[in-house]
Amino acid sequence: MSIRAATLRRWSLTSPLSKFVCTRLTSPLATTQVVVCAPSTATASYFLQNRNFTSVRAANSSWSSRTTGFFTQQRRGRATTPEAKTNEVDKRQIVSTTTNDKCKWLEVTWSDYLGRYPYVWMRDNCRCDECYYPSCHSRSMLMANLDLDVHPKTVEIKDDGHLVEILWSDGHISPYRSDWLKLQRFDKTDYDPIKKLSKFSWGSEFVNKIPTFPFDDVMTKNDALQGWMEGLVVYGLVKITGAPCELGALNKLCQKVAFERKTFYGPVYQVQSIFEPGSSLAYTAKSLGLHTDLPYYDYRPGVQMLHCIRQVESRGGENQFCDGKRAAEQLQREHPELFDILTKVKIDYRIIAQDYIDVHLQKAQNMIELDENGEFKYVAKSDIVRAPYLNVPVEDVAKVYKAMKAFEDAIYDENNFLDFKVQKGEIMAFDNNRVLHGRRGYSVSMEGEGSKSRLLEGAYLDWDEIYSRMRLIDEELRGTARL
Ligand SMILES: [Fe+2]
Ligand SMILES: [Zn+2]
Repeated sequence: MSIRAATLRRWSLTSPLSKFVCTRLTSPLATTQVVVCAPSTATASYFLQNRNFTSVRAANSSWSSRTTGFFTQQRRGRATTPEAKTNEVDKRQIVSTTTNDKCKWLEVTWSDYLGRYPYVWMRDNCRCDECYYPSCHSRSMLMANLDLDVHPKTVEIKDDGHLVEILWSDGHISPYRSDWLKLQRFDKTDYDPIKKLSKFSWGSEFVNKIPTFPFDDVMTKNDALQGWMEGLVVYGLVKITGAPCELGALNKLCQKVAFERKTFYGPVYQVQSIFEPGSSLAYTAKSLGLHTDLPYYDYRPGVQMLHCIRQVESRGGENQFCDGKRAAEQLQREHPELFDILTKVKIDYRIIAQDYIDVHLQKAQNMIELDENGEFKYVAKSDIVRAPYLNVPVEDVAKVYKAMKAFEDAIYDENNFLDFKVQKGEIMAFDNNRVLHGRRGYSVSMEGEGSKSRLLEGAYLDWDEIYSRMRLIDEELRGTARL
């Protein structure tokens, strides 16, 4: 849609994720289009929701950097022009097909694209009811029945260019929808909205920039829920305000995403000072050094959430957060040889506890794990549950301690960690494999209600379920086609 800009004015939106600068273009046809820099359509939609706009769409589909992503919104009620519709239909219509038996692929031509589809791939991805079960989006054809030398006998364009049908050498007939086929780009097929999000590391300046969302919005609006999850992916730390100050709110939040990741602490757990806790130092009023949770699990929960229901009025009880990615990068820069040790030496973690169930969990792993490209992957660090045994040659022990201490120094570098008191009704959610959390000790009276002065409810989620919810919402908000 072309916009004839009658007026042009700029306004700034202050968002928790970043500062969006919006350009508002108002045309004489009472059509308003807004161009927004935002990490995704959902985030743009969330921050423009009160400005009477609907139907967000990406203006530039080839964007790869969140800082240069542009999105447009059309004013409510403004329909797509008939011309635009015609163009859209035209681009879905197959113009011609050619069999290329030398390369063993089918060439399909649209008005704006030429696709090449290997015969064996097409036969494997037949969309007929016999080979594919649409209600569960699953292939029912067996690999055992796939003939690698299969080739078309005839190819027919049907349904006014919206379908192509192949009669194969084995006698089978396969239909393919034009719009589905056109999306298949092989090595360039990448429609995963999660992969478009880059991770940004942060330091102490982040304390006033933590992406923040009202509880009611996250519970009732998909674009707010999406913004909250995107913040978790990008920054690894997000905040919710205005949650009810009662047990169970966290459970409801988990249900919005999927379900809680149960651990030996149960589906959810209450963090408060109790006498002689049997499972965690967190259930005392002592200081907790910055750590990641449950490093003794082979399969650790991806995200932790803490909901503050009661907070201590006096000093103490402040929460601390540090971006492990930032601290690891600093260690690598300043002490590459010590960084190297933490990426190679397995540190043992262990817990013997009684809680939801009795456990003896143990796992040895690198404190800093790198991916196949040598980039930061995760941190697994908790002095609280680091085992007394250390499986390294005795002459290397002091060097391992030197490395652990240097990492600790990077974590507690005043430029790297946040230190603030989470308030009642706030829920902090953080990437448990990236962001370390801790708390300052506080004092409690062990008599009467005094022992219950601070109460947080905790729960975990897994990334698989978060990513899944994000893809479903993305599909709903953007109408992304399923491959
Ligand atoms: Fe913890
Ligand atoms: Zn079939």
